[in-house]
Amino acid sequence: MLRYLTAGESHGEAIIGILEGAPAQLPLAPDDINEHLARRWLGYGRGGRSKIENDKVHIYSGVRFEETLGSPIAVRIDNGAYEKDKAGWPEKMAIEGDPPEDMETVTMPRPGHADLAGKQKYEHDDMRPVIDRSSARETAMRVACCSIARRLLNEFGIEVGSHVVRIGDVGFDEPEEWVDRRNALIEEGGGASAIYEAADESATRMLDDEMTERCVEHIDQTKKERDSLGGAYEVVVTGVPPGLGSYVHWDRRLDGQLVQAICSIQAQKAAEVGDGFYNARRPGSQVHDPIEPREDGQRAYPRRTNHAGGTEGGTSTGMPLVVRGYMKPIPTLIKPLDSVDTATGEPQPTRYERSDITSVPAASTVAEATVAYTVANEFLRKYGGDSVPEIRRHVEADRTAHAETARDEDATEE
Ligand SMILES: Cc1cc2nc3c(=O)[nH]c(=O)nc-3n(C[C@H](O)[C@H](O)[C@H](O)COP(=O)(O)O)c2cc1C
Repeated sequence: MLRYLTAGESHGEAIIGILEGAPAQLPLAPDDINEHLARRWLGYGRGGRSKIENDKVHIYSGVRFEETLGSPIAVRIDNGAYEKDKAGWPEKMAIEGDPPEDMETVTMPRPGHADLAGKQKYEHDDMRPVIDRSSARETAMRVACCSIARRLLNEFGIEVGSHVVRIGDVGFDEPEEWVDRRNALIEEGGGASAIYEAADESATRMLDDEMTERCVEHIDQTKKERDSLGGAYEVVVTGVPPGLGSYVHWDRRLDGQLVQAICSIQAQKAAEVGDGFYNARRPGSQVHDPIEPREDGQRAYPRRTNHAGGTEGGTSTGMPLVVRGYMKPIPTLIKPLDSVDTATGEPQPTRYERSDITSVPAASTVAEATVAYTVANEFLRKYGGDSVPEIRRHVEADRTAHAETARDEDATEE
């Protein structure tokens, strides 16, 4: 099984990650990670930080001649903001010594951020450490670590993609408005990567030009109103074999793990598996996906529809996994929000800092990464081994066994 940890602050020198459990002999070059780090900066409505950062991963261990070794993979990404905003950071967050006498402490929490919760929990007088660790800058390292998991999935024909379906008030109302376009891309491209490649062409990572334009206007208007926006997106995983996850324990349910993968990301406040929210409004006959006979050698029973999003009983069915994330509006607004100075107890409006108007397109790329990690872990639980060739032997043995079962079924029918 895989496990990763991240460390580092948004304005510190760098963010650090360690991924353990990656099998040996997985082809891995820095650009397999850099590609997705660059995609994390996509999207109209980003703030000044997007101009400062040029995220590139430095791999320190666990990889040799572009192949993993089976040992922990240690990675680092430098923060461009450290150089740019240097203004006292090394002193204000110095590892040794005392705080400078003239140091301004941050005592005014911003609503919607971790500032007040973190100050109270860790009993800090100065909220700076809370602001800097709770920042979504951490998602850069998540993308880095999870891109290695994604690389493993790719090796076994499992692909992950995402696209945005709503920004603020503008977007699709029902999945029926986009599923045909999304499924056609999967069909043409042979997997979910085609979804992200098409979405990356749009300023808002949407699969519809007119909707993209409307969202861009909505973002511009919101900026004029000095406000911010949230939205929704969909992550799809194709090539998933049946049997990942399980119903036998609560924490092994794949659907539950997918929701956590989304809601573990800063500002993601809801997630649904398949047509979850929409299904709640419909009668069962329009929701449950009819099962069709397998063709010779087919591993999974095909479904006529996929409202369930590729899981039943917490276990993958072999249909594409579909999970949607819902992001709240960015909490840093140009327009001040009411708050309280915790040093004086007096009301105080927030001050604007560099920030995105919306980060939904970026969040969708982070969600691809966390979903990939979740699926890779369940894939390893079922087929795991110490090296990619060993895992391949397990996958092949499973495929052969199931092809034989399918043939037996055909013989019985005859
Ligand atoms: C990719 C991404 C980028 C973000 N960018 C910003 C930003 O520029 N400004 C901001 O105020 N919040 C931003 N956020 C949201 C905050 O990180 C988040 O709301 C905050 O850490 C509090 O966490 P919570 O909303 O989960 O409680 C971003 C989130 C993500 C996922």
